[in-house]
Amino acid sequence: MLRTPARCYHFISHRTIRAALGDRPRRDVRWIPARPGTVCAEIGSGGGFYTAELARRLGPQSLLVALDPAAADTPHEPPAAPGARIAYIAGDGCALPFATASLDALLYSYSLEEMPDARAALTEAERVLRPGGQVVLFLWRPVLHARRAASVLALCRERFEVVRAERGMQNLRLACRKP
Ligand SMILES: C[S@@+](CC[C@H](N)C(=O)[O-])C[C@H]1O[C@@H](n2cnc3c(N)ncnc32)[C@H](O)[C@@H]1O
Repeated sequence: MLRTPARCYHFISHRTIRAALGDRPRRDVRWIPARPGTVCAEIGSGGGFYTAELARRLGPQSLLVALDPAAADTPHEPPAAPGARIAYIAGDGCALPFATASLDALLYSYSLEEMPDARAALTEAERVLRPGGQVVLFLWRPVLHARRAASVLALCRERFEVVRAERGMQNLRLACRKP
């Protein structure tokens, strides 16, 4: 599978470029259900394109864990608006450092395709989510990588109930609920 070189991650989080591609943090984070006290993890949070806006949506009583293998090397801007407490941790999406059924929501924004094993990553997502919790996936270029998008969709259907799916100009967005 073609992965993005790590040196491009900062570029990928550039707001002007992402806006041109159709990504809007304030709008896109509405895919994540938010209630006071939500525990959410953003897996592959990278340069933080969604992190601050997601924290704002989750609200001050919630916790957002931003996990990325490169967390220690990435500068993190303090959020401009009040919101969930953010914990930045280094980790691997294929071996999540969370207890079973401990999270309410997960976001993978263009990160699942970077992981060595999408099946292992989604198995981990299923393990750490509580029943009724949701995993939200933004997948990059579903037309160019149609086979990959179809296989991720099939993996999601094996494990979750797909509650919402939208195809954008350069992406496929999915919201899946753990039964
Ligand atoms: C294309 S960037 C997307 C970053 C961010 N989510 C965004 O929307 O701008 C992909 C991210 O996936 C992360 N990543 C790569 N392998 C990973 C893994 N095994 N587990 C978790 N994250 C990983 C990278 O470090 C990178 O930050």
